[in-house]
Amino acid sequence: MNYSKDQPYNDLPLLLPDPSIWEKLSIYKKLAEARAALAELKGRLPIIPNPLMLINTLVLQEAKDSSTIENIFTTNDKLYKAFSSTAANTDPATKEVLRYREALWNSFSELKSPKDFSLQLAVKIFKLITEKKEEVRTGQVYIGNSFQVVYTPPAPGNILLEKLNNWFDVAVNKKDIDPLLKMAILHYQFEAIHPFSDGNGRTGRILNVLYLCLQKLLDLPVLYLSKYILDNKTDYYRLLREVTENNSWENWILYILEAVKQTSILTLQKVNAIFDNYTSVLEKVKVEANDIYSRELIDVIFSQPYCKISILEEQKIASRNTASKYLKRLEELGILTSETVGRENLYKNISLYAILSNS
Ligand SMILES: Nc1ncnc2c1ncn2[C@@H]1O[C@H](COP(=O)(O)OP(=O)(O)OP(=O)(O)O)[C@@H](O)[C@H]1O
Ligand SMILES: [Mg+2]
Repeated sequence: MNYSKDQPYNDLPLLLPDPSIWEKLSIYKKLAEARAALAELKGRLPIIPNPLMLINTLVLQEAKDSSTIENIFTTNDKLYKAFSSTAANTDPATKEVLRYREALWNSFSELKSPKDFSLQLAVKIFKLITEKKEEVRTGQVYIGNSFQVVYTPPAPGNILLEKLNNWFDVAVNKKDIDPLLKMAILHYQFEAIHPFSDGNGRTGRILNVLYLCLQKLLDLPVLYLSKYILDNKTDYYRLLREVTENNSWENWILYILEAVKQTSILTLQKVNAIFDNYTSVLEKVKVEANDIYSRELIDVIFSQPYCKISILEEQKIASRNTASKYLKRLEELGILTSETVGRENLYKNISLYAILSNS
């Protein structure tokens, strides 16, 4: 194979590689660990009564981490405020992170059956993230920095489309390989194909979690590898390159499996912490402010880090005046703390905020 990093890699092999690539003890060991951690997380998720409590919180974190990989920086606080507030003066980076969250959530909502896991879905994610109107790229792109090219993906047109069609076909239809192993291989291949003019990393990371849901390894899209990738970014880029240059699949697969394992463990800890805090707040309000107690009220203050009167109104928990009274009472109890943003009063859930910020 005449691979050259400055030339379009039109010979990028179609999937799957030869099984000898993954039929290795080291990989099977790591696979067993990753699958066990992921299964434990999947089994634990139903303890959280309202899925929004996980979606709005963990997804916001993922949106932030995934965008940081692309050097789009925002802070937890800006992001959480912008999510709940119409008044927050949202900067472009925060907006971009919120678009990532929207892309993730919208695409998950559309994933009803395997046939929905398609190129159209990927295009939709790309468009939502980047706000571009185009679809699959029609020009050549290069990966690297202004000093050097490190990789040149396949040429646009039929070559690119053939590889993309192969990608979705294998993702959905190929069954004689462990699905988690397949995810590792698919993720390399997606990035190597580089179907879009930008946003390939972020689109690829959203496809990873949707794929886990598709394969029923998760019921909710809550496993986000971006934090791990961010913390191990140099290895991530190096290992991608080494698959291309040396066919070094083993280390790449081990990296992704380790990412799945560690992220599952971390997410499980977060889910447990959210649940513990939720139940202790539930108890506290029941005992100390029984007149305002309802489970729906506690659910809603755990459904995003910042709450406000209109959210309680929208959720039909209380009228405007009563909602205001409820939030003030929760503040007196030390559960929430209020802050004025623009002309709005936002109420921060102190314990939830701490759990989410502490990563
Ligand atoms: N040598 C390589 N071979 C294949 N893919 C690579 C290589 N180096 C980096 N990549 C992929 O390209 C992605 C960056 O591409 P692009 O800028 O289109 O995506 P992004 O979502 O905007 O950025 P990012 O992933 O940095 O957030 C990286 O996330 C990585 O997955
Ligand atoms: Mg980019």
